[in-house]
Amino acid sequence: MGSEIKSVGVIGAGQMGCGIAQVSAASGYQVQIYDLSPDRIEAGLATINGNLARQVANGKMSEEQRKASLARISGSADLNDLASADIVIEAATEDESVKRKIYSSVCPVLKPDAILATNTSSLSITRLASASDRPEKFMGIHFMNPVPVMKLVELVRGIATDEATFKSARAFVTSLEKEITVAEDFPAFIVNRILLPMINEAIYTLYEGVGSVDAIDTAMKLGANHPMGPLQLADFIGLDTCLSIMQVLHDGLADSKYRPCPLLVKYVEAGWLGRKSGRGFYDYRGEVPVPTR
Ligand SMILES: NC(=O)c1ccc[n+]([C@@H]2O[C@H](COP(=O)([O-])OP(=O)(O)OC[C@H]3O[C@@H](n4cnc5c(N)ncnc54)[C@H](O)[C@@H]3O)[C@@H](O)[C@H]2O)c1
Repeated sequence: MGSEIKSVGVIGAGQMGCGIAQVSAASGYQVQIYDLSPDRIEAGLATINGNLARQVANGKMSEEQRKASLARISGSADLNDLASADIVIEAATEDESVKRKIYSSVCPVLKPDAILATNTSSLSITRLASASDRPEKFMGIHFMNPVPVMKLVELVRGIATDEATFKSARAFVTSLEKEITVAEDFPAFIVNRILLPMINEAIYTLYEGVGSVDAIDTAMKLGANHPMGPLQLADFIGLDTCLSIMQVLHDGLADSKYRPCPLLVKYVEAGWLGRKSGRGFYDYRGEVPVPTR
């Protein structure tokens, strides 16, 4: 465990928030996970429990470690429960207005020296920091999905982030046995600046009829040695998140090469958000995923 940080608050019990809570608890931190929706918290804790049980089954963790990890996590729909956290990592929906509202309600609750971090995939850390009461103690800690599996975490300073905050965040992330890469505060940082235009191009390839879902994913798996096809990966990330990132790239860099594919927009408008909603470029409601085009 990092020396200064002992307790971790997580805002948002979605796929990322739960992953961050899980790895933090497994590394010995006390974790409080908050979401607006008690149902999401309950579902999130069940997911964490299932993931930890799988790690026991795979011999990566003992039954005692699983129990101890689980006992270190509590869920709450009351923001006041984040009052004792040394660091709070916000992993709520990728929507700037949602995040800004969260900071204005959570900041008065936090300890004055608590670090506030965001797991945003694309939004400006400097701009988000300005919606908090502590821009010098605010930074981007960008975990990858799925958090328990992916080694990388991008660290992003805002213009005002102080060195002590950066060092504490780096020590915290290192204690989770993750590797760090440092990115400057530009739209979508490093990984998504490169990954999302590739995914968007795969959706254009589908939209223009160059190939089917299956053809495109097979082409990139076998032809470029990607472990997942780009459309499968888009479903995994969440199509709403993919669209938000493309919009941030398009708006932030003002280059038409980042124009979100209209087919991506249509899927999001339909509520077909990928795995998390049961349907995206694949339909996950049956035994095996079936391409939707
Ligand atoms: N999905 C990915 O692959 C990925 C990877 C890295 C980073 N991220 C980032 O992580 C964040 C979360 O993404 P996700 O995929 O977990 O999304 P998700 O849709 O699975 O979860 C978002 C959660 O935020 C909650 N939420 C919404 N408004 C809230 C509020 N006001 N207060 C508290 N909780 C609120 C929702 O109830 C939901 O449980 C986003 O910023 C996203 O860009 C996502």
